[in-house]
Amino acid sequence: MNGDVWSERAEAYRTSAIHSSGEDLDLVVAWCEPAEGVTVLDVATGGGHVARRLREEGATVVTVDPAPGMQADTTAPAEALPFADGSFDAVACRVAAHHFADVLTAVKEMARVARDRVVICDNTFVSESSEEADRLRDPSHVRNYSAPEWHSFFELAGLDLVDEAFMERPLEVQPWLDRTGTSPADQARVRELLGDRIRDGWMSLPTLVIKGVKR
Ligand SMILES: C[S@@+](CC[C@H](N)C(=O)[O-])C[C@H]1O[C@@H](n2cnc3c(N)ncnc32)[C@H](O)[C@@H]1O
Repeated sequence: MNGDVWSERAEAYRTSAIHSSGEDLDLVVAWCEPAEGVTVLDVATGGGHVARRLREEGATVVTVDPAPGMQADTTAPAEALPFADGSFDAVACRVAAHHFADVLTAVKEMARVARDRVVICDNTFVSESSEEADRLRDPSHVRNYSAPEWHSFFELAGLDLVDEAFMERPLEVQPWLDRTGTSPADQARVRELLGDRIRDGWMSLPTLVIKGVKR
């Protein structure tokens, strides 16, 4: 993963509508159980939306992201979190795991540094042609996983599944293509690959929010 690419996009992610609000964000925040005295690590913080909302609820939040431009408290990838075991009451990670080179190692790391709970939210797998569209739009895309794959990552990381929710997030296609600077030729191909998933300039992103507690 090239950190510089993400740094160039930092402002776009800070102001992006789909990142700054939504039912998925509300749920991630609620499931971290923020309150005064609760510590939370926000992994792959990007524009910092999860951290901002958790702080509004009184939690003490540390942010981590490998891209220097995201200006996180700590610069590191999810696969190698520079924190001791059980450092945080909760660990959150929203709409980022599909970029991780080694998602299982990342989930194990999040479980390791959590004292109690891990809350992860990400887009879920739709089809191989949608995966191709995602990679073409953004070469840093690795893969969207299905709910059963997420269950197995949690199991292997020693997390007991305690809650999960599925939702459809509306996404406006043109700003999404612009955010990653996709060329006009690639934009046309992405639209072709997504086919009838796009309606009136919008598409729906199936999303999973999943919460585990340490065994
Ligand atoms: C879509 S943004 C995250 C959005 C943010 N969590 C939110 O809720 O608005 C994806 C982030 O993943 C980060 N990222 C990419 N590869 C990563 C990795 N291996 N470990 C941790 N973060 C990574 C990028 O730097 C970027 O900030």
